[in-house]
Amino acid sequence: MSAQLPACQLLERFYGQSANLWPVAPPADAWLQAHSTAMISDHVALREQWVAGGKVAASPFDVPFVEQTGQIVLFWPKAHQLGIWWLTWLCHVLPDNTPVDVVGEHQGGVKRVPKILSELGMRCDKLDNARRCSLFATRTIAMEQDNAWQTFEALDLKLVSHPGVFGHGKVDEGTRLMLESIEASLPKKPLNVLDMGCGDGIISAWLAERGHQVTAVDVSAFAAEACRRTLAANQLKGRVLESDVYSALEDEQFDLIISNPPFHQEREITYGPSQRLISEAPAHLRTGGRLVIVANGFLPYPDHLQRVFQDFETLADNRRFKVYGAIKPTR
Ligand SMILES: C[S@@+](CC[C@H](N)C(=O)[O-])C[C@H]1O[C@@H](n2cnc3c(N)ncnc32)[C@H](O)[C@@H]1O
Repeated sequence: MSAQLPACQLLERFYGQSANLWPVAPPADAWLQAHSTAMISDHVALREQWVAGGKVAASPFDVPFVEQTGQIVLFWPKAHQLGIWWLTWLCHVLPDNTPVDVVGEHQGGVKRVPKILSELGMRCDKLDNARRCSLFATRTIAMEQDNAWQTFEALDLKLVSHPGVFGHGKVDEGTRLMLESIEASLPKKPLNVLDMGCGDGIISAWLAERGHQVTAVDVSAFAAEACRRTLAANQLKGRVLESDVYSALEDEQFDLIISNPPFHQEREITYGPSQRLISEAPAHLRTGGRLVIVANGFLPYPDHLQRVFQDFETLADNRRFKVYGAIKPTR
């Protein structure tokens, strides 16, 4: 088996088939998984995939920290501030002078890593460069954990966010349109609501503030933690779970499922999670319950909604974004 993704192909070429790696924030790649005994990721679906393959997988929020085995390789993320967070986190949880390699695609900004390492006071050696990717080596140093949590104000709420969490201080235009479009039709009696792909928790906090009972889920541990902190910062209650779409929910049913669904994974467009959100929504809605989603006008959700719900409404359309609502049929 060979590595599929360019960054993993560079690792395969550099470390060879005897590689024993300990990836941090890795992508899904079968070669990488086969050549690792453990990994660290905020992405719950990826962790579940690794565990299903007999490997150890931990979240950066797991305490105590999983024991290190193999060469640590940090996959440089698109958000540089998140990359800096991972570096300072590694310095915090690992003994000083532990070797850490950093890999990434040039178009993902990995060429900035030497400058970032130098600003952090960490050494940097270039190890290899191929497939439009680079691999650098550094070592951990004694450093305080970076407190990367930031609080923003929007829609009369405090939003707590972390680098890498969607929006990070900006209210998405689609999310704003969706909330405006449902405000008048929300009943006074509390609804049991599922916020799918909660990000920093803006939708959950907005609904909890209006008296609704909120369950918020996100595939990212950073987003789930941001949502918990947002609810707490506004003295609001809600249940927050890490979940790959509905994976953590078993057969629970809701009055309202609401989402600004993901359609990107890093730079790739992917409809997988949003398709599952729509296809499996009827099983997670009470009879008469409603799915409300917002999407860029070009995304192919209407056909899918029509197939799954037999009917749907366009609740708002500002040319760039459309808000769709669909009610669970009675049969
Ligand atoms: C477009 S953002 C919306 C965030 C927030 N609800 C808002 O409106 O600002 C989509 C969110 O879906 C999450 N997500 C991506 N894939 C997911 C999956 N498979 N299951 C659950 N959440 C997912 C992302 O981490 C991201 O926080």
